[in-house]
Amino acid sequence: MPENPEKFDTAMAGWTEWQEAPWGRIRYTVAEANLLRHVGGPAEGPLRVLDLAGGDGGDAIRLAARGHHVTVVDHAPAMLAAAGERAAAGGLSERVACVRADVTELPADLAAGEFDVVLCHNLVQYVDDVPATLAGALAPLREGGLFSLMAINRHSEALNIAVRRTDPRAALAALGDDRLQSALFDAELTLHTAEELIPTLESLGCEDVHHYGIRTFCDYITDDARKYDPGYYADLERLELATTALHPYPHTARLLQLTARKRLTG
Ligand SMILES: C[S@@+](CC[C@H](N)C(=O)[O-])C[C@H]1O[C@@H](n2cnc3c(N)ncnc32)[C@H](O)[C@@H]1O
Repeated sequence: MPENPEKFDTAMAGWTEWQEAPWGRIRYTVAEANLLRHVGGPAEGPLRVLDLAGGDGGDAIRLAARGHHVTVVDHAPAMLAAAGERAAAGGLSERVACVRADVTELPADLAAGEFDVVLCHNLVQYVDDVPATLAGALAPLREGGLFSLMAINRHSEALNIAVRRTDPRAALAALGDDRLQSALFDAELTLHTAEELIPTLESLGCEDVHHYGIRTFCDYITDDARKYDPGYYADLERLELATTALHPYPHTARLLQLTARKRLTG
């Protein structure tokens, strides 16, 4: 079932707290670093970026601060309002447009919009039909443009339970389970793997796929309080940046990020 937008709005306070926590900061820092491996070089100039289910603009604001023009689409009004406020606070309002819409029913001008970059970060766990959602997400991307997909990595779940809850029985049960209850958003999520998503992207006209891991070590260090120490956090962030593309680590990271190019048809 499609998620109710209100449940994302009521979770705003917890979501903001999560983003500001060390694991939230690592998530955005590493994702941005991975995008910059592929786009945003000095010769490229400002890019047109579409951030689908962009929430309160965690990725969008960073890209706008680098000079790019970002359109954030989300169906939750409070999330979008927060994105607008963050843009205004950073003097970036001219570079951040917020559009309230369901990503599965994009307004025609966006759906046809020739964007250089499309982000689809942490949406697929909420949808029933992943191939259809990804096909719709790829439509606004120009040929040769960069697509970035982020999702919770199903392979991380059993490991996460074993390490953090020290519960081998629950970890064993999680091996065969692709569902996860999100306490923050009161939603039942579907967990995916890169091995499943990569062929889907390729079947939809993507190539040059790169698989990155995010929170590769962070979530398996159970002393969360220590991560607030600035020196410790800096070491952890360096470790995460060093291992995001260093296989096999991405295969058990908490989040997967896939970047890909939309194939040229001409
Ligand atoms: C976990 S948040 C992720 C936000 C952002 N992409 C990020 O990673 O920081 C999920 C977001 O997806 C949005 N969302 C979920 N389903 C959607 C849909 N069908 N159309 C538009 N937005 C949707 C929610 O409102 C929420 O803001």
